[in-house]
This record gives sequence, structure tokens and C-alpha cells, in this order.
Amino acid sequence: MCGIVGYVGKKNAIPYLIQGLRKLEYRGYDSAGIAYLDNNKIEIKKTVGRISDLEKIVNINIPTNIGIGHTRWATHGKVNNTNSHPHQVGDITIVHNGILENYQELKNELLKLGYKFKTETDTEVLCAYIDYEYKNSSTKDMVEIFNNCFKVFKGSYAVTIMVASISDKIFVMKKDNPLVIGIGESENYIASDVSAFISNTCKFIYLEDMQIGIVSSSDVSIYQENKLINNDIKTINIDDVGNGKEEYEHYMLKEIYEQSNLIEKLNSIYLNSNLDDFDISKYTSIHIIGCGTAYHAGLIGKYLMEKYNDFEINVYIASEYRYQKIFVNDKTLVIAVSQSGETADTLACLKRVKKCGCDTLGIVNVKNSTIARIVDRVIYTMAGQEIAVASTKAYTSQIYIFSLLALKIGISKGVINKEDITSYYNELPQLINNVLNINYDRVVKKIFNNEYLFYLGRNIDYVSVMEGSLKIKEISYIHSEAYQGGELKHGTISLIEKDSCVISLVSNEETSAKIISNIKEVKARGAYVILIIKDSLNINIDINCYDQMIIIPSVHELIQPILNIIPLQLIAYYVAKKRGCDIDKPRNLAKSVTVE
Ligand code: F6R
Repeated sequence: MCGIVGYVGKKNAIPYLIQGLRKLEYRGYDSAGIAYLDNNKIEIKKTVGRISDLEKIVNINIPTNIGIGHTRWATHGKVNNTNSHPHQVGDITIVHNGILENYQELKNELLKLGYKFKTETDTEVLCAYIDYEYKNSSTKDMVEIFNNCFKVFKGSYAVTIMVASISDKIFVMKKDNPLVIGIGESENYIASDVSAFISNTCKFIYLEDMQIGIVSSSDVSIYQENKLINNDIKTINIDDVGNGKEEYEHYMLKEIYEQSNLIEKLNSIYLNSNLDDFDISKYTSIHIIGCGTAYHAGLIGKYLMEKYNDFEINVYIASEYRYQKIFVNDKTLVIAVSQSGETADTLACLKRVKKCGCDTLGIVNVKNSTIARIVDRVIYTMAGQEIAVASTKAYTSQIYIFSLLALKIGISKGVINKEDITSYYNELPQLINNVLNINYDRVVKKIFNNEYLFYLGRNIDYVSVMEGSLKIKEISYIHSEAYQGGELKHGTISLIEKDSCVISLVSNEETSAKIISNIKEVKARGAYVILIIKDSLNINIDINCYDQMIIIPSVHELIQPILNIIPLQLIAYYVAKKRGCDIDKPRNLAKSVTVE
């Protein structure tokens, strides 16, 4: 979602702004722009499209050493040049990430005061309001001005501004949206996340909610209310932010292929384990929250942990959970699953349950992200930076962590021994490689032109096909639905006709015979069936019930879902590629969803 960058220093700012925006491209955006000081005047260049389109309208040689930039993912107002950022009203030039919820109310007041608006955005209103406060301030003290704004603004906002008459400082304020300040030598950076400036400095400060920052080339001052405070300076290892695409055509493919090494790494970190100090047995209820793929990982977690647990574990979509009636107490553990650690809905849920006295655990990929910092305990998924918008390796690492939590429960109940299972974990990387090496050409050729697809599964396999179906939807734009095998005949089977394509996963021992019956039902109605099936199932498969079969290896049931997802990821990838889609940056999607 929207990305913010800023630079103030001794060097030419524009190349840094462009470089920073490029690094934030993975977040998803539809337009981009920068503002910089040129001959004592703030110039704005912005355009719909990619950073490469912005580069065409910017002269990177203009000698300026202060500027701000933005990639916009439209929320209020169409995708067009006017609505893209930066916006300028009076003395204030602004880039903003988030949503100003009371913008209409404020706009009405500002209209009465004579302000005029050119755009449909909430950001222009935010800008005008800061200008109004600035014009009416006798001291022009930005800390006081921002503190007045905090009292009025409702919603979420990371705001970075330049002020017309102040040529050497950038001002920032934030609530519920990430903002980080990179500390350099005689230069400082501002960004939505550290990847924007990591190649220039690895030292940084997180701005916390309701804080204000004043950033010049030689100084960073952070204020909370009216007090100057010291936020910790953190450092990040460049390896945590990842390398390029290497020999891979897309980040998504690279990230799918990284999964084998990732499991090896997770085995070495967690298998002999520093999860031992985490006492999960003291809880009497567990709620898991997440969005999209992270929600699916949570569902896998439920199935795995419930194998050994003696109470039900509930999984919720965070955007619903934050508003629904919830039944929690101080014996409830709330597990938040998030790759980015910045997802607005997941974060809001955590804030809500913390007020109810619940313990919180984060299963998070991005180190020091907001969710990682707010939870009582964090387990990092160590997947490295995930650049492709469609999540693959982060999901695998999330379900890996859930398998360990399930194992922990199983061991505590005396129903499983760690020794019995370690060898399965150790052989998993090689098995992943085997699945990566399967040839998916015939499947892809059959389905890439389809208008719709059905995915079928039962029990935990149903969750895997939900994730497979999400993958294909988001990157290939083929409409697809995942169904529980037994549910089809309650309505959806009416959609099955000759050549309807059905992809079914069969790995769950308990329900394998049942799902095969469901597959026969669709086959009898003319469907084209692609079966993804575990090699060791003790059932007879009638060769007339499928058209193509992909056989995947068996492993212990706690980690079988890790193998199961890989063919589904690869099918989605190759289908999207054959359809010529923009795989790493699918339309309308953002990597880090920082608004609700
Ligand atoms: C799908 C995908 C999304 C994310 C969701 C949550 O491929 O990536 O569905 O899983 O937006 O994001 P995080 O995990 O960052 O909270």
C-alpha cells in the first residue's frame, strides 16, 4: 500500500527519492510523485503509472538536497494525476499514507474558511488543515501545530511534510501507520519501511503512534506531546531485506524456490527449540487472527493444533474480528499471523484484545514491525523479505511455526515424541525440492485459458485449496472458488458442466475415500479433473475419475500441508505467466495493507 520516502542531506535528493520509491514498489501502487526544493520553491512532479513513468518527467540532475516522495494506492478518489501525491495547500506540501476518516467534516469547515480543493482525496484535506493550523499559529512551532492536529484527525495517518518557508527540515507525524527514519552521516531518510534506504544506512528509528519528528541533515528530534524524547536507534542487517531476483524471472518464482532452504533454516533455528520456553498449556482458549493468506495459515494452525489440543481453537478474519462480539479473557491467547507485521486490521484486533487482558503472540516475518513490537511475544518466521505481492514462502514459514506449536501441545499431552518426528522435518527440504521439480506444463496448458476453476478438498486439505485458489485468483485473474468436497451437492454442483476444471487435493487420510467420491460426482457431470494426491494413501483410485494426476510425497501429517501448497503455488505462477500477467505486482493489490 502507499509508500512514503524523504531525504534531507548534502547530496542530490532526487536520485535517493527515486531509488527509495523503487524499493517500495513491492507494496503495490498506481501512481507516484515527488516534491523537492528548487530555487527556494517546492516543485511537485507526479504521474499515474510506474516509477519508470515518473522518471520520464523528472530531471534527476536538479541540485536539490531535500525532498519527499510517494507511491499511491488509491483509496479516496480515482487513479489520476490530480489525486496522486504530493499535495500542496498554502505553505504545506504533503505525502500521506492511511485514511483520514473525518475528512468530509473537516473539508466542510475548511470550505467555509475559504479553502478550495482540487482533488477528491482525504489527503488534500489533511494538508489544508495543517496549513490552516500553520497560518493561525503565532509561533509556527510545528510540534504544537501537529499536536493540535492529533486532537482533530480521526483515522490512520503517516504524514510527511515540507513547509514552504523552511528549506532545511522535513516534518513527520504518525498514528496507526508505519514510518521510520533512517540515520545517515550528514543526511537522514524517511520511509514507510527500511527497505527504502537500507542500501544507504542500516541505522534507523521507528516513529511510534502520536509522535512527531523533525528531520534535518544533521539532526532527528522526536517529540511526544511536547516533550523531546529518545527513541532507540536500531540497526538492521542488509540480508534481512533480501537480494534481487537473481536468475529468476519473477520474485514470486524465486520465493517459491526458496522454500526448501527456508525449511532447512527453520529446522536449524527452531527444531531443537527455543519455543521450549513458551508455555502454551496455561491457556483455556486460543484465537488466531489474520487476513488473506495469513488467515489461511491460521486455519492450518487450527487443524494441526486441534489434533492434540483438548479445546477448540478459533480462527478469525481480522477485519471481522475487530468489530464482532468476542469471547476472551485473561486465559485467552490471541495469535496474530502477519507477514508484513503492519496489516491494519490485524493490528487493530491486537490493540482491542490487549485491552481485554489477553496474552498475545505474533507469528510475524518482518522484524521490528508494528505487530512484532506490540505483541507480548513474537515468533519470527525468518522467511526473509517477500517482494512478490502474492505470499508464498511467508505462508510456508507460518504453517511451519504452527506445526511446532502443535508438536509442543502433542508433547505436553504425551501423545507424540519429538524423536519420532524429527526425521520428517529433516527430510522435508529434499521433499520440497522433489515437488518443485515436478513438471506442471500439462496442467497449465489445460487451465490457462479457463474463465473459472473449482478447487476441492476436505478437512485440512480444504484449507490448502483455499490458499491455492486465492493464489490463482490474485495473480492470474481467473475466477476460482474452493469448496469442501461434501458441500458441492448443496448447491454449487449445479455449476459443473462438461469441461469445468476441478483441481482437487487428496492428502488427508481420514477423508481421502470421501473426497474421491466427491470427485467421481463431478467427473460424472463432465468435469475435467486434476488430482494432486499423496503417494502413500491406502485407497484405490479409479483411473476413470481423473484426467491428470500429480503425485506428491508423503511426510508426517504435521508438515504435510507444507508440501501440499507447493504444486498449487506453482500452478498459479505458471498459469499467470502463460496469461502474460504482471505476476509480482498484480492489479489492484498491495503487499502491505496499512488501511482497513
Ligand atoms: C495473498 C496475500 C495477502 C496477505 C494479507 C495479510 O497472497 O499476500 O492475502 O496474506 O494481506 O498480509 P500480512 O501477512 O502482511 O498481514
